[in-house]
Amino acid sequence: MQRLSESSIRPLIVRRSPSGLRGTINVPGDKSISHRALMFAALAQGRTVIKGLLEGEDVLRTADAMRALGATISRDGSDWVVEGRGVGQLREPDDVLDMGNSGTGARLLSGILSSHPFNSVMTGDASLRSRPMRRVTAPLAENGACFVTRRDERLPMAIVGTGAAKPLNYRLPVASAQVKSAILLAGLNADGETRVEEPVATRDHTENMLRHFGVPVRVETTTDGGRVIFLQGPAHLTARDVIVPGDPSSAAFPIVAALLLPQSDIVIRGIGLNPLRTGLLTTLRDMGGDLRLENERIEGGEPVGDLHVRGSDLRCVDVPADRAPSMIDEYPVLAVACSFANGTSRLRGLAELRVKESDRLAATVALLEASGVVVRVEGDDMLIDGLGAGQVPGGGKVATRMDHRLAMSAIVLGLAAGQPVDVDDTAFIDTSFPDFIGLMNKLGANLGGTADAS
Ligand code: S3P
Repeated sequence: MQRLSESSIRPLIVRRSPSGLRGTINVPGDKSISHRALMFAALAQGRTVIKGLLEGEDVLRTADAMRALGATISRDGSDWVVEGRGVGQLREPDDVLDMGNSGTGARLLSGILSSHPFNSVMTGDASLRSRPMRRVTAPLAENGACFVTRRDERLPMAIVGTGAAKPLNYRLPVASAQVKSAILLAGLNADGETRVEEPVATRDHTENMLRHFGVPVRVETTTDGGRVIFLQGPAHLTARDVIVPGDPSSAAFPIVAALLLPQSDIVIRGIGLNPLRTGLLTTLRDMGGDLRLENERIEGGEPVGDLHVRGSDLRCVDVPADRAPSMIDEYPVLAVACSFANGTSRLRGLAELRVKESDRLAATVALLEASGVVVRVEGDDMLIDGLGAGQVPGGGKVATRMDHRLAMSAIVLGLAAGQPVDVDDTAFIDTSFPDFIGLMNKLGANLGGTADAS
């Protein structure tokens, strides 16, 4: 596969789809689970086979980093095979670890590196270098590691890890699975009990996968809906094969496109249905979306199912703030759905969107406004005046700001809007959904080729 480079731009003009979407597809493997599978397999003793790994740029960066830390990682047909080194046994990398566009890769790896006794340097692309790392460096420094960052705790950063890490006891100030995971990963090589408290439950793939690799993780629920996670270190991970489910955050784009285009009738097979990831499905059902789950089952320890989606008239919605962690990456495409709904929608508690691959709050407002939708931000809430099915004028030029989810949201908007939407760059879609355009075309979207303007 051609690797993503910041200098190759792929613009795209998106025209209204002449008919609905039809057919059956699989979406690529879950990004969160794929990062974890590679990291945990590298920390395990023995050989792990990973099926369904997302071969997106973000995950390939994590594979490169774990190789640089001493794991042996190879591809065998469509499987990925990892020979792990064991907790505490990674080796000092002999070059800078470049995590590309991936906040998850950078933050989770910071936890691992903090409790290994060597020095490393981490960087990323311009988007990742602008994202806050303080949320992980502040708690992790308490275990004895030392972080030297640029101004405002931005990458690149140097990490002086410790071989004698103290276990952390930390209450997350923001609901973040990345921060929770970084602390748990640091705790694997600390002596004693690590305790992390989260105010609102966030995706629990780290907890699930640690158990899968044989690490006892205890979880208590608090009276106000939060969770406390306990882990005893030093821990031992035993290699176990992993099956990665389809990514619900990637499925979000064909799902919304199918809802917005009348006469659509599609099936997406094998989507991950972890309840801490399904906020978008709940919300779209609240809006009147025709979504039916079929063939629900457990695969590789995670719930999965096939989702049948039909074109639907949508009504506005009021999404509560405590639903945000279960759909944090889906707000840009939900905002597109709200633009085509009847009435004014309110999406509450979106502060975290400001620190994603781009400032997604500002970028989503700009995306909708460029296509003639009235949208405003009140505090951390976004309000969208829906225009009704097929009624968004379109015609806008969209700046995607190195953000894959903005690019895919802009494409979904363009497929249903009146006038063509001009998307400045679709290259970053490769970070999470490499064949997005091909799969949408398989469903009948009729998206043109992506001219390479580099
Ligand atoms: C992720 C957690 C979320 C999400 C990101 C993946 C993870 O970030 O936005 O795409 O895999 O843990 P936060 O934990 O910072 O909200």
